[in-house]
Amino acid sequence: MQDMQTALSQQIKSISPKYFYDETGSALFDRICELPEYYPTRTELFILKTQADDIAQFMGEHADIIEFGAGSLQKIRLLLSAAHRPTRFMPMDISGVHLHAASSELQSVFPSLDIHPLVADYTNEWLLPESLPGAGRRVAFFPGSTIGNFSPNQARIFFENCAHNLPGGALLLGVDLIKSPDVLHAAYNDAQGVTAAFNLNLLTRANRELGCDFDLSQFAHSAFYNAPMQRIEMHLLSLKQQTVHLNGVAYAFNQGETLHTEYSHKFTMVGIQQAAKAAGLQSAAYWTDPQQYFGLIWLNIPHKQEK
Ligand code: AVI
Repeated sequence: MQDMQTALSQQIKSISPKYFYDETGSALFDRICELPEYYPTRTELFILKTQADDIAQFMGEHADIIEFGAGSLQKIRLLLSAAHRPTRFMPMDISGVHLHAASSELQSVFPSLDIHPLVADYTNEWLLPESLPGAGRRVAFFPGSTIGNFSPNQARIFFENCAHNLPGGALLLGVDLIKSPDVLHAAYNDAQGVTAAFNLNLLTRANRELGCDFDLSQFAHSAFYNAPMQRIEMHLLSLKQQTVHLNGVAYAFNQGETLHTEYSHKFTMVGIQQAAKAAGLQSAAYWTDPQQYFGLIWLNIPHKQEK
């Protein structure tokens, strides 16, 4: 409620993309991942499938594996299958329901793996449980280019948290790479309108959960590539001069004014490696696809310096 009030009160209206993911939004996102235009998911899966053995060498024996987001089981299954006798798997997500459902599904595939779900917000501060006796390296996996949905400042904080929580470990990071604006545009403006439905669902959610009165027929999905900022921007565009109510307060939208809902930053390998390096993370390898649409980067995290 507070976040929507703040969003609507600002001169440039903007809300966090985390509000996309109610039950309907999560189901729409799963459909986005299957769309012909949305290449990131299938490209990252292709890289994982073809490079899993090489990645497993970097993980080493008995790795203690963390995943940020209770995301696609498909991706982690590929890593866990290739890993050399992993000690434990700890998926971290803010939504306990989603996390526990995904964990028990995974447990049925890997019955002898120690799965330890962690309900925590990895976009803020987080802590990990003690390492298990005999465990190998701590390896965190952050797939999907979800880091692209962070602001540069949030990305910096995320890298710093990794440096703090995973000394001597590593981060395997998935990033969407800069490419032709046409390919990017199509990925966020699919022909079937699933991304539009995903964006507009945020207003349906606000109407249902907060008692807002957004008229969905008077807002349109808008997504475009902002080349100088190297990001896709998603907005909800007001089609007319109108007023929306929340908690008895009226908020005006001019025709053409938008509620900004998401940034999806795109990266160069060098750019993301430099951003990680600023927090002390050292790039040791990366894997990509033949078109260089997507990258997986291995970032080593140094041991803490003795003081
Ligand atoms: C979750 N995240 C990496 C997706 C992206 O591409 O930024 C969310 C998304 N938004 C529109 N389509 C997909």
